[in-house]
Amino acid sequence: MMDFFGRRRRGGLLKPLLSLLLVCASFLMLHRLAERHAALCGPECASFKKGPVRSGWWVSDSSEDPERASNRTPAFWDAQVLNCSEDASVRKKEWFASLDQRFHQFVLHRHCRYFPMIINHPEKCADGEVHLLMVIKSVIEQHDRREAVRRTWGREQTRDGRKIRTLFLLGTPTTGKDTKNLQKLLEYEDRIYKDILQWDFMDTFFNLTLKEVNFLKWFDIFCPTVQFVFKGDDDVFVNTPNLLQLIRFRVEEHKEAQLFVGDTISKAIPIRNRQSKYYIPKELYDQPYPPYVGGGGFLMSSRLARRLLVVSEKLELYPIDDVFLGMCLQRLDVTPEMHPGFRTFGISRHKTSRMNREPCFYRHLIVVHRLSPQELLDMWGSVHHQQLACAQRAAV
Ligand SMILES: *[C@@H]1O[C@H](CO)[C@@H](O)[C@H](O)[C@H]1NC(C)=O
Ligand SMILES: *[C@@H]1O[C@H](CO)[C@@H](O)[C@H](O)[C@H]1NC(C)=O
Repeated sequence: MMDFFGRRRRGGLLKPLLSLLLVCASFLMLHRLAERHAALCGPECASFKKGPVRSGWWVSDSSEDPERASNRTPAFWDAQVLNCSEDASVRKKEWFASLDQRFHQFVLHRHCRYFPMIINHPEKCADGEVHLLMVIKSVIEQHDRREAVRRTWGREQTRDGRKIRTLFLLGTPTTGKDTKNLQKLLEYEDRIYKDILQWDFMDTFFNLTLKEVNFLKWFDIFCPTVQFVFKGDDDVFVNTPNLLQLIRFRVEEHKEAQLFVGDTISKAIPIRNRQSKYYIPKELYDQPYPPYVGGGGFLMSSRLARRLLVVSEKLELYPIDDVFLGMCLQRLDVTPEMHPGFRTFGISRHKTSRMNREPCFYRHLIVVHRLSPQELLDMWGSVHHQQLACAQRAAV
């Protein structure tokens, strides 16, 4: 709190002015996009004027799977009222006083798992079978990243008869942000694209695990017929055709039921360096980590996603989302598959290496982390350029 007020005073008038300008500029941009969109699709886009779809909606019964259709259970988000006050008993624990301050909020609210939804899309998976659902963690102010993803690898489409759908997962703005305007912009953006899921929890680093568990629950309720889920960050490059090919291979090998593949990290231990973003104090966790997959991007089968939801409810939340999923996988006795096509630390770990900007490598990979929105758009253009001549195999 001290920190926040301290910074505010130094910023003076400039900061609020700048943020107001930014909001105006974003609004104008979105408005222009909306006009273009309306011009493209004409009167059938009338539904586009409706507000964001709220939770409590019933899934249409036209295309449900037979099991659900037979007993006609209405699908709705049931975490409506929430009393997430802090757990006072935690303060009395002897380790609480010595625990690093950064973790106080986390441990005091650790019992709060499911949150009400502010923006929902119960219809996302309802019309026919979705082959692959692309699910992307994003934060409210990074609409430029979402825009780049929609125009590249996250474009909703049907490829060889396989339907691809996209969703962004968001919480609410963190303290000190211009919440009201950001929320208005987000709802506007969602009216255009209908691809935002938003929950009523603050979008902080330690709350990323909430995104994970709320999504698993959402997926279980609203997407009974989806086959595969790709989950990733909004600053990655994904080679969609290669991802689909990987799915085809695993299906041919009958390995799809347990499918969980990405950039697997084995034998890691908690980071004890207090400067690190990933620092975990001993009071919180004092064991080696189970194998887990870097959260930049991974692929899983929907069957496994449903089993993950079941075990996740038996585990206490852990502040690092990738590791939390690793803990769930361990409970299920599933070892995540390591695949060299997933480069969540970049192609070369040397950030300045030219390999990280070489389109021929991107042609052969599946996921590369991390690119700015402009880099993503440029790279997508280069990789898909007919004239790009690459050697048969660009070994990486
Ligand atoms: C929320 O829960 C706390 C303790 O669990 C209780 O003291 C408080 O009255 C509750 N508030 C509401 C609005 O229900
Ligand atoms: C997570 O979000 C909840 C609800 O907004 C908030 O009360 C809590 O402090 C957040 N936790 C962290 C660790 O930021």
